[in-house]
Amino acid sequence: MDSQHGIRLLLLGYLSVMASTSPTFHIDYENNCFRKDGQVFRYVSGSIHYFRIPPEYWKDRLLKMYMAGLNAIQIYIPWNFHEATPGVYNFQGDRDLEQFLELAGQIGLLVILRPGPYICAEWDMGGLPAWLLQKRNIVLRSSDPDYLMAVDSWLDVLLPKMKPWLYQNGGNIISVQVENEYGSYFACDYNYLRHLKAKFESILGKEVVLFTTDGNSEKELRRGTLEGMYATVDFGPSSNVTKEFQAQRQIEPKGPLVNSEYYTGWLDYWGGNHSTGDTAMVAKCLQDMLTIGANVNMYMFEGGTNFGYWSGADYKKKFKPVTTSYDYDAPLSEAGDPTEKLYALRTVISQFKDIPQGPMPPPTIKEGYGYVPLLKNGALLEFLDVLSPFPPVVSVFPLTFEHLKQYFGFVLYRTRFPLDVLKPTPLMAPRNAVHDLGYVMVKGEYVGVLEREESLVIHVTGRIGDTLDILVENMGRLNFGADFNDFKGLVRNLSLGPIILEGWEIYSLDIDGPVRMGWIQSMIRDKPQKKQHSLVASTGPAFYTACFQLPGPNHDTFLKLPNWTKGQVWINGFNLGRYWPAKGPQKTLFVPATLLEASRPNNITLLELMEAPAKRWALFIDRPILNGTGTKRTVTIVLN
Ligand SMILES: *[C@@H]1O[C@H](CO)[C@@H](O)[C@H](O)[C@H]1NC(C)=O
Ligand SMILES: *[C@@H]1O[C@H](CO)[C@@H](O)[C@H](O)[C@H]1NC(C)=O
Ligand SMILES: *[C@@H]1O[C@H](CO)[C@@H](O)[C@H](O)[C@H]1NC(C)=O
Ligand SMILES: *[C@@H]1O[C@H](CO)[C@@H](O)[C@H](O)[C@H]1NC(C)=O
Ligand SMILES: *[C@@H]1O[C@H](CO)[C@@H](O)[C@H](O)[C@H]1NC(C)=O
Ligand SMILES: *[C@@H]1O[C@H](CO)[C@@H](O)[C@H](O)[C@H]1NC(C)=O
Repeated sequence: MDSQHGIRLLLLGYLSVMASTSPTFHIDYENNCFRKDGQVFRYVSGSIHYFRIPPEYWKDRLLKMYMAGLNAIQIYIPWNFHEATPGVYNFQGDRDLEQFLELAGQIGLLVILRPGPYICAEWDMGGLPAWLLQKRNIVLRSSDPDYLMAVDSWLDVLLPKMKPWLYQNGGNIISVQVENEYGSYFACDYNYLRHLKAKFESILGKEVVLFTTDGNSEKELRRGTLEGMYATVDFGPSSNVTKEFQAQRQIEPKGPLVNSEYYTGWLDYWGGNHSTGDTAMVAKCLQDMLTIGANVNMYMFEGGTNFGYWSGADYKKKFKPVTTSYDYDAPLSEAGDPTEKLYALRTVISQFKDIPQGPMPPPTIKEGYGYVPLLKNGALLEFLDVLSPFPPVVSVFPLTFEHLKQYFGFVLYRTRFPLDVLKPTPLMAPRNAVHDLGYVMVKGEYVGVLEREESLVIHVTGRIGDTLDILVENMGRLNFGADFNDFKGLVRNLSLGPIILEGWEIYSLDIDGPVRMGWIQSMIRDKPQKKQHSLVASTGPAFYTACFQLPGPNHDTFLKLPNWTKGQVWINGFNLGRYWPAKGPQKTLFVPATLLEASRPNNITLLELMEAPAKRWALFIDRPILNGTGTKRTVTIVLN
């Protein structure tokens, strides 16, 4: 235990001793409400995800939520963010959950905790660690003993940390959600819910208010609820809230009405349209819910960003990866700015409760720093020794990321032409063989991309022994639905004409490590002689970098990559996330000021996967563009 943590606990203990009567929070079934310290209590809450906001900005966002009139926040805890490797826990820095709870408490916000273990949240694998998939046929979110064993070890670490933060123990957590929308899952395994309930109660105590959240249909509520855990519902703006709450009333004839996820907006998918939630409708329905006395949590109040590789994916007729921005058209924007929607909601809330006096903290300063020219460092294949210092894993047939214990990012699959192929011949991936995108190179030359469900054939030529490389990108694991054991990599065999390809060398790539260490910048220094004339487009996975000095202080900014196609971008070694302007709708990435340095040169690193434009510019602008449309650019490759 670190000393800071010790002091917090001491302070909490001290406060509870000082209180004349100990704090209480419970459900009053007689009067259809919550009671806090004996008084009727109703929450007007908003969702915020600490894992989607730089820690330096946590306090700013929480204060804005408080000033909007909220008395509570609702947070998820993503298990995979804290236990990336089995048994290795991280609660430091951007993962310092207790620091976040502490800040909320200082500001005067209560907390509704949603520790999963499954959370959905449009987060990789719904917050479950991908290492669970090492048991190939594991049944997630069920009484599968291997799943339960991992869940228990995690909860044995997490819940004791949360216990002192419970309201009745002097902290600010008033209630705890168990699982998440379990009624939408196929398993309907009550023993699993019973197991979780017992586990939560054994660690947190019997007096903790446990609840479940489900869609407001009879079927979902029947499958997702369990006696002894208060059943709540979720729904978006509606013209008849009485009707919307009917399903909850059937399961909970008495007790407070609760909408645990009232949708203020919606998420975006790559290649889809930008989602919005109409302000007037969102405000009107909030008013209706508050009028009938309901408790409401707005999802999201501040959405934030899926930095790095954390965004998830849905399956709705097809695989739909979630964008890097999680702006959600929420009352506070991705960059934490109060929007018109925030003020409209605050006006509604002010009709029902006091709003704190004083001004809303202003938006952070945004600055457009302009154009920065990027230089090509070289193709990814040239750096294999740096990105994959160990010998490749050799296998007759392809192995998955999970098998290699590399859960995120990129893996390179290399084999050789088994015979001379002089006429263009189909390199074929059956449906769902490539999870999720495969960038194909023959003798180091980029020939095209295989997509999970779309481009499944590329015609290639080559001679026996020529290398065939497929760089496979994980675009985020499914976070919702029945079959979400979403293995990554080449998950089925590929064939060349009639021949199944064999004899793979599989390279696990660690790109983030070297980029964080400034590897690519040091390389530019070493090779200044390599003068570049970027007059033509360049195709295939390659690195591009630039070093740039800010003209003044570091401010929040938005990175636009005009005419670039798709890839991953880092600022000063921090993985900002995926960019894909060729698909849209997201055209800019949020760059928090906290990543930039005013007094030193800053570094930007791009791994462009498909095609770099002739003019290799990055552009920093002062506002986000999240509603762009894709460009239909095709890469034509002539093989000789
Ligand atoms: C709202 O729904 C309830 C329950 O279905 C119904 O009784 C009521 O008439 C509806 N109200 C309006 C204004 O449509
Ligand atoms: C996006 O919106 C346009 C215009 O409303 C529509 O034609 C198109 O089908 C939408 N695209 C998707 C992917 O939903
Ligand atoms: C590839 O094909 C071989 C031979 O038919 C088979 O044994 C193997 O399971 C296949 N691998 C995958 C990942 O489908
Ligand atoms: C950017 O890279 C240069 C060259 O390696 C280095 O001197 C500088 O410290 C880096 N800047 C930051 C903010 O990391
Ligand atoms: C992007 O491409 C368009 C069309 O070719 C061109 O007009 C524009 O100048 C390019 N933008 C940049 C920044 O290179
Ligand atoms: C995108 O949003 C901006 C700002 O709200 C708006 O001005 C613009 O018209 C929108 N563009 C499209 C293509 O919808």
